[in-house]
Amino acid sequence: MTTPRLWATSDLHISYQENRKIVEEMHPPSPQDWLIVAGDVADQAHDVEWALRTLKERFAEVIWVPGNHELWTLPKDPVQLRGETRYKHLVELCRNLGVHTPEDEFVKFGDVTIAPLFLLYDYTFRPEGATTKEEGLKLAYDAGVVCTDEHVLFPDPYPSREAWCAQRLEYSEQRLSEVDGPTILVNHWPTVRQPTEVLYFPVFAQWCGTVESADWHTRFNAECVVYGHLHIPRTTEYDGVRFEEVSVGYPREWKRHNLKRGTLRQILPVETP
Ligand SMILES: [Fe+2]
Ligand SMILES: [Fe+2]
Repeated sequence: MTTPRLWATSDLHISYQENRKIVEEMHPPSPQDWLIVAGDVADQAHDVEWALRTLKERFAEVIWVPGNHELWTLPKDPVQLRGETRYKHLVELCRNLGVHTPEDEFVKFGDVTIAPLFLLYDYTFRPEGATTKEEGLKLAYDAGVVCTDEHVLFPDPYPSREAWCAQRLEYSEQRLSEVDGPTILVNHWPTVRQPTEVLYFPVFAQWCGTVESADWHTRFNAECVVYGHLHIPRTTEYDGVRFEEVSVGYPREWKRHNLKRGTLRQILPVETP
């Protein structure tokens, strides 16, 4: 019997036909293997459902966290729910498929607790020269680099995305503080700022995380932090902890690197080179 493996992927963006094909062809080496899907599956709820159903039929367990794209409310989407109501709708959809979400009890892969998180961002990864959210945003608008979230990611019923983020941080911190032993932290946005330092447009970092989770990988005993969102697939290490950016990205992006790291990243067991 082979040892089950834990894989991760993210940023499948299946509204692109070529990316949908990637999901159609995504199979685990063994049906005992587990899969983490770290957000940005699709822009519309029915596409999210299709992708997660397809993957759940092939992997023994699937763990999902929302990306910003799942939380968008686009005019063309038959599901017009916004903000937290939209998120809860997606959680319900996952539960019906048997997919784990940040609202469910954490599951263990061997002795490692997998903690799916939904932390959002709060504009604290500010660009150089900005000391407030307003100053940071102004620099972004002046540079013409503004995340679409500003127009279609609604924070309802919270007054702002940063207020929703504060609530998510409180909820997640509480849950993580109850975990004993090693963890795998999963969040669409990186939990530390360093990965955003290689962004082509550094001013975009303000939509990529929060300084509040900067020490969570050491505080909560992470063996690995899995994230996406940046569309820069790579492996890095901070404070001795492995960070895996597992995105597939848009066709124009993955065609540049030709998916040389594959569409599935092995998280556990740790691969020895
Ligand atoms: Fe993405
Ligand atoms: Fe994203």
